[in-house]
Amino acid sequence: MEKLAIEGGVALNGEVAISGAKNAALPILCAGLLTAEPLTIRNVPHLRDVTTMLSLLGQMGMSISIDEKLGIELRAADIHTPEAPYEMVKTMRASVLVLGPLVARFGEARVSLPGGCAIGLRPVDQHLKGLQAMGATITMDHGYMIARASRLKGARICMDLVTVTGTENLMMAAVLADGVTTIENAAREPEIPDLAACLTAMGAQIKGAGTDVITIAGVEKLHGASHNVMPDRIETGTFLAAAAATGGSVRVTGARPGTLDAVLDKLRETGVKVETGDDWIAVAPNGRLRAVNVRTAPYPAFPTDMQAQFVALNSVADGTGVVHETIFENRFMHVQELCRLGADIEVEGNTAVVKGVAHLDGATVMATDLRASASLVIAGLIARGTTIVDRIYHLDRGYEAIEEKLSKLGARIRRVS
Ligand code: UD1
Repeated sequence: MEKLAIEGGVALNGEVAISGAKNAALPILCAGLLTAEPLTIRNVPHLRDVTTMLSLLGQMGMSISIDEKLGIELRAADIHTPEAPYEMVKTMRASVLVLGPLVARFGEARVSLPGGCAIGLRPVDQHLKGLQAMGATITMDHGYMIARASRLKGARICMDLVTVTGTENLMMAAVLADGVTTIENAAREPEIPDLAACLTAMGAQIKGAGTDVITIAGVEKLHGASHNVMPDRIETGTFLAAAAATGGSVRVTGARPGTLDAVLDKLRETGVKVETGDDWIAVAPNGRLRAVNVRTAPYPAFPTDMQAQFVALNSVADGTGVVHETIFENRFMHVQELCRLGADIEVEGNTAVVKGVAHLDGATVMATDLRASASLVIAGLIARGTTIVDRIYHLDRGYEAIEEKLSKLGARIRRVS
């Protein structure tokens, strides 16, 4: 199993280019199921989750090619197995994003129930409730959800809670439905307007993506298009947090600062200098870091996917930071590992109280999920001596070439078997 070996204590310095967003690329790849014509997607990050999604789509009969500019061309002209098997869904919960497009275009989808995952229960009841409102019948069969509808019908759907992939699934279902669908209490994460832009380029009629009410007038058919995936705001935030935590000066390029307001505000609160331009963000040190309180919530509030990185940052800051996780019930697994490096953190329920310490000391730690892994890498960059981060396959799910990018910024980091 591969690990990362990090010699800590070096401030990151320099410039790093941000990749395409994983959480935008995954639903957009599924949008390829909505038409028989080619969909070309550019700026797709090279990640394990993307490979998993492509192999899932390939198993269904999607033809997939990569053009000379590394754009991915999908063509769903001959989908013979509208199914997401357990083996896929258990490794990547976002596999559930095929549900909406499959039932909308082919009238049938068979998708394994995701089951528990490392960071919490994560049910899919809202996805199913929305499809049922659009006239789909849902049955359960040996751990699989089977959705059927001769043609989905437009409906008014009010989500009980804000769900990102739930909103995306229902948008993709509604674009081919008969009539108008409104999704109320929709997620507003920036990946939603990115998906809407791709669907609109394919001929869909969508209004309000990025607000909490999305209105979709269904059409008979969608056509081919090409789309550039937005930059990854979580990768961006992770590099900025790493730069701040190590006391470095880093400029991230190819980013979208407007998607990171809550994160940039928190970074400023730690005391670092933050500057932004059209497509770049720079952080620079400005005295000792101050611990900050963080409360995760749906966009535009502070993202749960940046919580673990800020716990790492707080662990060496001045003072005490209280971190409330309100989205997932089991998302503090990085805390035990950070404590092995000498961090002083107590968790009670969904709150972590992080008391800043003068320094961390390297040790072997184990990554438990994607963003927890990122926080361990940040901690390793700060810690004195060597930190070994084990089980980095989690990291490869969501960070493109992370050790190369960090090395270019001066980090002493290498991948070892
Ligand atoms: C997406 C992101 C993930 C991010 C999360 C929250 C992708 C591929 N993944 O995950 O990186 O951490 O948003 O920003 O985009 N819930 C229900 N019923 C449902 C659906 C969700 O109770 O039918 C609950 C979940 O258990 C969770 C909360 O709603 O507590 C939010 O989950 P959701 O927004 O659906 O997360 P994902 O879309 O899976």
